[in-house]
Formats: sequence, structure tokens, C-alpha cells
Amino acid sequence: MSATLATASYLGATILFILSLGGLSNPESSRRGNLYGMIGMTIAVLATVFGPHVTAAGYAWIIGALVIGGGVGIYAARVVRMTQMPELVALMHSLVGLAAMLVGFANYIDPAASSEFTGAAKSIHEMEIYIGILIGAVTFTGSVIAFGKLSGKISGKTLLLPGRHWLNLAGLLVVIWFGREFLHAESIADGMTPLIVMTVIALLFGVHMVMAIGGADMPVVISMLNSYSGWAAAATGFMLSNDLLIVVGALVGSSGAILSYIMCRAMNRNFISVIAGGFGSDGGAPAPAGGVQPAGEVNPILAAETAELLRDSKNVIIVPGYGMAVAQAQHTVFEITKVLRDKGVNVRFGIHPVAGRMPGHMNVLLAEAKVPYDIVLEMDELNEDFPDTDVAMIIGANDIVNPAAEEDPASPIAGMPVLQVWKAKTSIVMKRSMATGYAGVDNPLFYKDNNRMLFGDAKKMLDEVLAALKA
Ligand code: TAP
Repeated sequence: MSATLATASYLGATILFILSLGGLSNPESSRRGNLYGMIGMTIAVLATVFGPHVTAAGYAWIIGALVIGGGVGIYAARVVRMTQMPELVALMHSLVGLAAMLVGFANYIDPAASSEFTGAAKSIHEMEIYIGILIGAVTFTGSVIAFGKLSGKISGKTLLLPGRHWLNLAGLLVVIWFGREFLHAESIADGMTPLIVMTVIALLFGVHMVMAIGGADMPVVISMLNSYSGWAAAATGFMLSNDLLIVVGALVGSSGAILSYIMCRAMNRNFISVIAGGFGSDGGAPAPAGGVQPAGEVNPILAAETAELLRDSKNVIIVPGYGMAVAQAQHTVFEITKVLRDKGVNVRFGIHPVAGRMPGHMNVLLAEAKVPYDIVLEMDELNEDFPDTDVAMIIGANDIVNPAAEEDPASPIAGMPVLQVWKAKTSIVMKRSMATGYAGVDNPLFYKDNNRMLFGDAKKMLDEVLAALKA
């Protein structure tokens, strides 16, 4: 493939990626957005593999890597459950970081790559390598720790070392100092020591940064690492002089940064304090490790009574959470919705921005069950409507409907906007036990007079409700 054709293909792929992002911003156009992304990526891979930079000797390596990578990808796509997607995404971000690190080192020690540049261009190229490895290393270990926290392999509690901000500052100064040493190094061998010291510090910083963030701040961390992985890819693009990688990396980096901002706003947190870490430990009491003790009496309800309440309602708001994903109850939820709508009940869904374990988690599940988009509303669109709602049905959600966020300034989640389900005439919480949610805090909603608890697996209980509704 000629260089001109490769450039034209890269341009086409870039346009498709931008269209893809545009499509993904709305549930109705998201399938089309995905398709644009897939076509764009296919063009990008083909243009790179058959482009002018790959020699015949490289094909064996590329085919080997495609077979191994593709095999792992197909296997992961088949076995990973929907509830494990956030962990998988975190793991994939770590691979982008690792790739940026490895490309940086390979680029530095490759005599052909380094002899291409002289004078100022050489310094700029070395700076790209240094910064690329730095971002890659932080992304790599940060994402591995995020994977551990999301999968429960590492405790979700914040690890707050004494003087942690000073430690970070000292690390930053050392990295800047060794950056100067690296740029002044006479030979590749001389440059290796500062490069390795910086890499070790960056790896440790990635661990330290994400270990200090926990509880309800995790959504921000995920989108932040998403953004970092974009910048790591862009840095790789600079190192390899690949324009497409630079553009795509910048697209991912900036959209991840915008998502982090949206997440912060949803949590009513500012970005700097999330990065500084320690949510729930500065303002309020940290979440106890073994969960909290229930603080009051609850009113249980049966599936048949739930069906009766729903049938007699005019307005119902369903609030899905992580438990709906675990139970895979979205199809039954839609069956119930259809029955109620046929009876003239106004049923809507209230989606909290951080419901579940990844951005848009609930929207994806409801779209899969074919729930019409026009009855799936964001928190801000219907939070005022709860006083006029007969039944608020909470399916496997906990933190996102916790009134303590509004009522208890000492709560670890104080200030986080929540769905005000307790303002409905009756709220029904569907979950298996009195266990806490992700943030590990007790939920005063459960003890309110107008709240009922429907204990059991969400899918099983909803099947019973559906049967009772149809009876
Ligand atoms: P959570 O607060 O985690 O509550 C989920 C509830 O579902 C649990 O209390 C659990 O109670 C119940 N549950 C689990 N399996 C169930 C099943 N099979 N049937 C019925 N119930 C089941 O979830 P949420 O309300 O969606 O809030 C999300 C939380 O995750 C927030 O704290 C958020 O910050 C955090 N987070 C979000 C993200 C993103 S980006 N969305 C990422 C990381 C963390 P039982 O065990 O008693 O059943």
C-alpha cells in the first residue's frame, strides 16, 4: 500500500471514529456509533498492517500477535459476564498502559529509531519517550489496582499512607530531576538509569493513587483511567510517528476526561479531591470493613402484595441498580412494565449516573431488554416527580437511593445526589438481605415507614410479581 493510500485510509478511519463518538452519545444512535467504530478500526488495522512501515519480515510477528490477541479477545467476550465488564475494561486499560511503556523502551534502545533524530528533534523525541513511558506506567499499575478493587480481589477501602501528598510531591520532583538527566544522557546506556528510576516511581505512583481512592469514588477512577489510557495511546503515536494513533488517543483521552467531569458532577465531588483520594475518610467515618449493623425495624412485603400495589398505582418509577445486573432481571422487569402499561399505569425508569458498576450500565441492560428509550429517564429528569409517584420500585439498588447522602452530613456519601425514592407514597426495595452496597454504608431508607422490603434474588422475586400480576 502506498503512503498516500495509507494516509487517506487513516483520515477515513479518523472521521469514522468521530462519527462513532457522536453516535454513542445517544442510546438510539449507539448501535450505528458502534458500527462506525468497528469499520473505522478495521480500516485502521488494515492500513497499518499493509502500510509502508511494515516490511515482509514483520508479517509473521503480526499474524502471530493477531492470532494470540484475537483468540484471547474472543475467549474473554464469550466467558465474561455483563457484571464483570467494568473489571475487563480496567484490565484492558492496563494493557494500553503496558503497551505504551514497552513501545517507549523499545523505541529508545532501537538504534534505527534513535539515529533518525538529531539536535532539537532528538530532544523532542526523547521527551516523547519519557512522558509516554510515564503515562503508560501510571495507567498500567493504576488500572491493575482498579481491576483488583472492582473484582473484589483487593479491598475497596481507601489506603491512606501518612504524608501521602508529600510522598507524591517528592515522587514528582524526582521524576522531573531524572527527566533532565535523561535528556542530557550521552549514550543509550547512560539514559537507561534515569528512565528505569522514573518508570519504577511511576509504577508505584499508579498503585498509590488508586489505592487511596475507594468507595463511591470508583466511577470517577474508571473514567479517569479511561482518559489516561487515551493519553498513553497518543504518547505511543508520538513515539512511533503514527498520526492515527495520536488522533485516536486524543479522542479517547479527551472523551474520558469529559466523562470524569460528568461523573464528578454526578457525585457532587471536585476532581482534585477525588485524585487526592480518601473519600469517606476526611469528612465522615470510613466504611467499616465487615459492613454495618442494621439500625432499626424493616417492613417486609410479599411478591403478591407488591403486584397488588403496582396494579392499583397510577404512577410507578422503577430504579434499577447493580443487583438487577447481577440477577439479570432486566427482561422480567420489562415484562412487568408491559403488563402495567397495558393496564394504563404510567411506568418510567429513573437512572442514576453511577448506578451499577460502569457508566451507562443500566441503560445497556434496559436497551438489551428492549425497554423503550422514552421511558428511561436520567435522575435529574424525574427526581422532582417522586412526591406524585404511587410506587417507587428499587431493584437491586442501594447507594444511589440512600437518603443519608442528603440528610446526614457525617455520612461517607454526604453530598452525593441520589434518587429521592422515599418521597413516593410507597417505596419497595428488592434485594436479598440487609447487606450494604458498594460504598459500604447503611441505608436509612430501609427503616422508613413508607418503605417495604421484598427480600430475595431480584429475578426470582420479579418472576413472582409478574405471575401475580398476570393471575
Ligand atoms: P450498590 O449500592 O452496590 O447496591 C447493589 C445492591 O444490590 C446491594 O446492596 C445488594 O444487596 C443488591 N443485590 C446484589 N445482588 C442481587 C440480586 N441477585 N438480587 C437482588 N439484589 C441484589 O449499587 P447501586 O445502588 O447501583 O450503586 C452503585 C454503587 O457502585 C455506587 O456506590 C457507585 O459509586 C459504585 N460504583 C459505580 C460505578 C459506575 S461507573 N457506575 C463504578 C464503580 C463503583 P444484597 O446483597 O442484600 O442483595
